[in-house]
Amino acid sequence: MKSQFRLDIENGLKNSPKTLPSKYFYDAIGDALFVKIMHLPEYYLTRAEFEIFSTKSKNIISKLEINKDQPFDLIELGAGDGKKTKAFLKVLLDEDYNFKYLPIDISQNALDDLEQSIHKEFSKLNIETIQGNYFGVLNDIKTNTTPKVIMFLGSNLGNLQDHEAQDFLIKLSNALQVGDKVIMGLDTIKPKDVVLPAYNDSQGVTKAFNLNLLNRINNELEADFEIENFDHSPEYNEETGIAKSYLVSKEDQEVTFNGDNIIFKFQKGEKILTEISRKYNDEILNSFLNNTKLKQISKISDSKNYFNSYILERV
Ligand code: AVI
Repeated sequence: MKSQFRLDIENGLKNSPKTLPSKYFYDAIGDALFVKIMHLPEYYLTRAEFEIFSTKSKNIISKLEINKDQPFDLIELGAGDGKKTKAFLKVLLDEDYNFKYLPIDISQNALDDLEQSIHKEFSKLNIETIQGNYFGVLNDIKTNTTPKVIMFLGSNLGNLQDHEAQDFLIKLSNALQVGDKVIMGLDTIKPKDVVLPAYNDSQGVTKAFNLNLLNRINNELEADFEIENFDHSPEYNEETGIAKSYLVSKEDQEVTFNGDNIIFKFQKGEKILTEISRKYNDEILNSFLNNTKLKQISKISDSKNYFNSYILERV
């Protein structure tokens, strides 16, 4: 039987225009490249969101309206290295809040590293890691009535197509009880000269990140992509607020998937869409929340208004 990875990749390449799902960027090499991206001078998103958590965590906490005697679960979807969250956890612990931290990630490796560093830095913190995908975990938490704060940071929602983001928000809303809160970190719509370099950095790390998907396909699906025959080509539309990353075929070429003898043809200049990074404003977010029981109750921004931490309440 074909693996889900093979099915998704082959179906994407059968599409016209061709697409490849960005969720497959994150193998061990992709994870390491993404950590590099987060430190790039051009990649403002991580710095802006970190600034919010390191200077305005108290403000965020006040908007969550949590009673210090009431235990709650702080659930982080897609925890990664937790750098931004740690700034937030520190304030919660210093202020004696009564909570359990539940980071959820698809990568057990990332969770093990995070757990170790949390134990070192916050010996008092009650942590329970959960390995899995968001949708599965959202289903599991449905029955648990402990008050919850969900963190979904890093503008990760932006990597979903609009209809997928709306579907995700409906599922999130359905998994929560009245009064539960969400901290949603979203990149703002801003001029091209700021956004585009974030996806086309001068050191070529984002290019390597995008091309690594072809490496992964070669390694795991016995394909024979000639990596140097493809270019990284990001685009950004200021009106829609959508950044798109493409791989562009530099010549007419064929790629064989030796595992099952499928051949894909690429024309010179043909583009494969590999990632969408949507940027948000209040209007777009609110329109996506329309079919949910989540309501925006507050918004906290960094000093340049590059990034927003939205506080949502399940009503
Ligand atoms: C994880 N995600 C929010 C990143 C983004 O900005 O869309 C992934 C990324 N792709 C290229 N650079 C960073």
